[in-house]
Amino acid sequence: MKRPIVAIDGPAGAGKSTVARLVADRLGYLLLDTGALYRTVALAAKRAGIPWGDEAAVTGLTETLVRDGAIRLERGGDGALRTLLRGEDVSTLIRTQELAEGASRVSAIAGVREALLTIQRSAVSANGVVLEGRDIGTVVFPDAQAKFFLTASVEVRARRRFDELRSRGQSPELERVHEEVVERDRRDSTRPVAPLRQAPDAVLIDSSALSVEAVVDRIVERVRAIERELEQS
Ligand code: DC
Repeated sequence: MKRPIVAIDGPAGAGKSTVARLVADRLGYLLLDTGALYRTVALAAKRAGIPWGDEAAVTGLTETLVRDGAIRLERGGDGALRTLLRGEDVSTLIRTQELAEGASRVSAIAGVREALLTIQRSAVSANGVVLEGRDIGTVVFPDAQAKFFLTASVEVRARRRFDELRSRGQSPELERVHEEVVERDRRDSTRPVAPLRQAPDAVLIDSSALSVEAVVDRIVERVRAIERELEQS
């Protein structure tokens, strides 16, 4: 069967990670959370004592990490997506507000985006793949057959981030999380390289008032229709 590339883009807290995982499960596709790549670069820079704003040094570090195959995303036996940095499982470590900000900062650097393209493009497989991020449908795979832009109101997204951080044992303040979501939206959408924006051919889904299941159903239905079209072409 011919399987499309599924691109799910959208702002922080739109529910991309949860939705992308469930969609990949239902379709039996591979899954790539591209935000985890930027978060891992931010973590590696922090550990190396490199400020996130030092473009040349962060680019050099990213190029080395990619060349050495030091950043890897895998699915564990339980189905959870694990992020490995030089073999160490950093999946939990990268899910903090600090590294969300770090990821947003390093992701504005052209050299970092360029270096990480290799990992993202090599994820394509004949078995189908779901990629979630900010620029999958616009830059990484502009020719993807199935593109979705998932969004929700700022209030809903801040509340989801807040709940997510709490479920990870952290104690954020809702107001701070709200401010960070607004600031990250601003930074991710206004950067000169690969800003967050909806691809013209992406299907817009506002999940503010939709359940996760409803969003997943909508995406899966559309991808199945595309699979059938590809089959006939
Ligand atoms: O989806 P996330 O919260 O894990 O992403 C963290 C940051 O990484 C986000 O604020 C912007 C950046 N990012 C990006 O620029 N491009 C992507 N494809 C994915 C994430």
